[in-house]
This record gives sequence, structure tokens and C-alpha cells, in this order.
Amino acid sequence: MKNLVLLGSTGSIGEQTLDVLERLDNWNLKAISCYKSIDKIRKQAIKFRPDYIAIYDETDLKELKKDFPIGYDPEILIGASGFAELAGLNNVDMVINAIVGAAGLEPSYNAIISNNKLGLANKESLVIGGNLIIPLAREKNVDIIPIDSEHNAIFQLLDGKDRDQVSQLILTASGGPFYGYTAEEIEDVTVEDALAHPNWDMGSKISIDSATLMNKGLEVIEAYWLFEYSYDKIDVVIHPQSIIHSMIELIDGSILAELGTADMRTPIQYALKYPDRGSNIAGKLNLNEISRLEFDSPDLETFPALTMAYESGKSGKGYPIVLNAANEIAVKAFLDKRIGFTDISKVISKMLDKHNSGEFNTLDEILNLNRTVRNMTEEVILTC
Ligand SMILES: NC(=O)c1ccc[n+]([C@@H]2O[C@H](COP(=O)([O-])OP(=O)(O)OC[C@H]3O[C@@H](n4cnc5c(N)ncnc54)[C@H](OP(=O)(O)O)[C@@H]3O)[C@@H](O)[C@H]2O)c1
Repeated sequence: MKNLVLLGSTGSIGEQTLDVLERLDNWNLKAISCYKSIDKIRKQAIKFRPDYIAIYDETDLKELKKDFPIGYDPEILIGASGFAELAGLNNVDMVINAIVGAAGLEPSYNAIISNNKLGLANKESLVIGGNLIIPLAREKNVDIIPIDSEHNAIFQLLDGKDRDQVSQLILTASGGPFYGYTAEEIEDVTVEDALAHPNWDMGSKISIDSATLMNKGLEVIEAYWLFEYSYDKIDVVIHPQSIIHSMIELIDGSILAELGTADMRTPIQYALKYPDRGSNIAGKLNLNEISRLEFDSPDLETFPALTMAYESGKSGKGYPIVLNAANEIAVKAFLDKRIGFTDISKVISKMLDKHNSGEFNTLDEILNLNRTVRNMTEEVILTC
């Protein structure tokens, strides 16, 4: 049996990973974690009986253990250090990091420093710490298998290709629920409108990021670190059907694409089975039934987040950390109905303007800047 550590087991990717795991017969769930969904993780623990569980808050401990059957006595870790500790356990065949946000960085780092293969859904790890994680993974020869569907597609497409023959990585974007809206039309959209993604059922933070196009911006930076192509070789195209998960262009002009049903269980299974292939979980993609595959350019004026992400990625020097931290706080404020939808990008822009460069290469340096910017963003939001 292979051992899996699943961080963020109560989230959208976490639950879909458990669904995949139930279909595979050679994986043992060694550890799970959540932030606050105690009821959910208790049920998962009782069902899968992992040896380790990590939760954030000690006051949830009693509630967690409420219905544990006699004889089931997992080791329970508390707080952010617990998530990182799970990622670094011994005898682990893969860590899937499905935590949302910058909180995923330390676990990603710990997985790699402990030589544990990483199945990466947590894109924010690479957005804020790609300069730390990727050289370390290379030095220690630890595999990172991308679970984000676009990066998983590109990972598959690049397999066996000579890098010099690849001229462009092309990330597809659905455009989100407000694709085609004008600047005036998005002024008054509600939280409920923004959460209603047309093709994917995801956690609330990534759903809002998809609506602002920040998700694609974060993915551009993620692609830069994962595949090590320069930003001018990473393009974004709107493809509303989400059938093509991404493409690569070769120097002779040929474009290769990965197509499939929009179902995250496919890239999750891919990561768990790699380099083998599993059976079809998502259902056959019937090309006869697909009437159209459409493409469009992103509307960068109405959705400025994508440009801010490109510029932050190109600038380096802490800008991606600022972009991500400001975005996380602004998205939370929008979800809490403290600011409007278009304020999200305005807040991020203000925070980027306040930053004046520097070197952020160690875990502590990155986490300190992340913390500072989050606090400063809260103050800026009070003035909105
Ligand atoms: N959902 C998708 O289809 C999808 C696709 C591609 C990439 N991704 C990426 O995968 C990651 C997870 O996305 P998701 O949609 O699954 O998110 P989600 O549904 O919000 O789940 C997030 C998970 O992380 C836990 N968590 C939240 N805050 C935490 C913290 N501060 N420290 C430790 N754990 C924390 C949550 O626990 P609680 O349940 O207790 O809050 C939950 O288990 C994100 O980086 C996202 O961009 C998601």
C-alpha cells in the first residue's frame, strides 16, 4: 500500500481526492487536515481511519473526537505547524496539498525538504514561494505533480518534448461568471452572482478569483515556476466551454491540446497514478455532442487582475507575495460583503503601489511579508 497525506481534506479538492481514493485499491490515507470543518473531518476520520489528523484550533479537539469508535486513537496535531508537520511525515508516497491560500506554503516546503512527492493543488505556494520551492525540489530531486487542471494539462503535453521545440504555453480560462460583462455591468454584481461559476464547482476563494480573472493570473505565475518558461511565452486565451484544459504551441506552429470533461478528479487521479494512467472517472467526452469550442481574448480593462499578476510575476522582488496577500484579504472582504466586486482589484492595485521591492527568498522572509501585507490590506479596506 502507498501512503497519502491529504492536506485540506474537507475542501472541494480534498473531498474529490477522497472520492478518487475510494476507487483505487493501493492507497492508504495516512493523514488528513482541515481548518474549521470539524464535523466533516470527524466523519472522514471515522470512515478512513487515518493515523494523523491536524486541525487549527485546540478548542475544537473535544468536538473532533466526539464519536470516535473505541480503539481508534489517531495522533492529533494542532495549529499551522501541524499542517507542515504532516507534510514532512516519514513513509509517505505523496502529499496532496489542497489547502487554500498562502497557508499552503509551509506544508509544500516541508513536503519537499522531507523528500515527499507533492501533488500540488495549492497554487498560492508557488505564487508566493516559487523561488524557494522550485530550486529546492530540483536540488532534492522531488517531483511536483500539478493538480490544477491547466497545469496538469501542460505537464502532460510537455512530457517527452524537447523544451526548445515549445514556443508557447497557452492557459485556457473559462472567463468566469462575468465573461462578456462590461465595466459598468460588473459594478453591481453580488457575492452570489460571483460564486456561480458556469463550469466548475469549487471553493469560494477560487470561485471569486475565477470571476475577477485573478485565478488565471495566479496560474500564469504558477506556470512560470512549474515549467520555467519566460512570461512572454505564457499566454492566456478565454475558452468558455472549459473542454480544452490548456495547450502548447510548438516552433513549427502546431498547437497541441489536452481535452476532457471538466472534472477535477481526472487530474487528481493522474497525480496519484503517475506515470501510470487510471480508469475514466469523469465520463467519456463525446465530441459528437460538442457543438462548439470557442476562443476569445481576455478583457484586460474590465478585469485588470490578470495584468497585475503578469506585471507582479515579471517584477518578482516580493510583488507576487503582495499581489496574493492583498487578493486573499480583499476576496475575504468581498465574501463578507464589506467591499464590492470591483473594489477587489482596486485594493490589490493600491497595495502593489505601496510596495517598493526587496529580496524575499527564505521561508521567514516570505511569510513575514505575507503577514505584513495582509494587515496593511485590512487597513486599506477600512477606507473603502
Ligand atoms: N476547487 C477546485 O476545483 C480547484 C481547481 C484547481 C486548483 N484549486 C486550488 O486548490 C486549492 C484548494 O481549493 P478548494 O477549492 O478545494 O478550496 P476549499 O474548498 O476552500 O478548501 C480549502 C481547504 O483548506 C482548508 N483551509 C482553509 N484555510 C486554511 C488554513 N488557513 N490553514 C490550513 N487549512 C486551511 C479548508 O479547511 P476548512 O474546510 O476547515 O475550512 C479546506 O480543507 C486552492 O489553492 C485552489 O486554488 C482548486
